[in-house]
Amino acid sequence: MSDVQHQRLREFVGDLAALLDSQPSEAEILALGSQRLAQLIRHDDWLEEAFTRPSPQRYQQYLLYADARQRFSVVSFVWGPGQSTPVHDHRVWGLIGMLRGAEISQNFRRDPLGHLHEQGEPVRLNPGDVEAVSPNMGDIHRVSNAFDNQTSISIHVYGGNIGAVKRAVYTEDGHEKPFISGYNNAFLPNIWDLSHG
Ligand SMILES: [Fe+2]
Repeated sequence: MSDVQHQRLREFVGDLAALLDSQPSEAEILALGSQRLAQLIRHDDWLEEAFTRPSPQRYQQYLLYADARQRFSVVSFVWGPGQSTPVHDHRVWGLIGMLRGAEISQNFRRDPLGHLHEQGEPVRLNPGDVEAVSPNMGDIHRVSNAFDNQTSISIHVYGGNIGAVKRAVYTEDGHEKPFISGYNNAFLPNIWDLSHG
């Protein structure tokens, strides 16, 4: 992986840190962050192979970068053919940018009795598309690979260290189970070697 390719992710996390330094509202984070994430995923030449590997068991969640103050994290999500997440929430803002393949996101809402219902039509994300989630605008969804014969990869940005956030997955009847996702990688991309110019 050349430094030019690492440059895309390095500049992205630098720009995101600068955005958060300016004390923006969540609406500003989602609007400006979406634009910046769209720029990052316009090119599919920068994600190292180690962070694109599917697992036959379940979808993979690779940490690419975590802010030193855990204000944000950047993750590659890799779905093998036909894989999907459980219904889950995030509890922090999030941006989802489609890099490769396609995915389907179905939102859910809870009724006053706590039961879950599908909300709206499923949304299909194609390469270049960006979607936002937040506790303020609908935070419960299920995401699936749109393909049963190929891997799909999306790049996610969250307003916290998402692998450590105490959140929940949900059964069909709305029962909430505590969930801390963790990450599937032991090592992160080295975006800081600037020796090659
Ligand atoms: Fe999600």
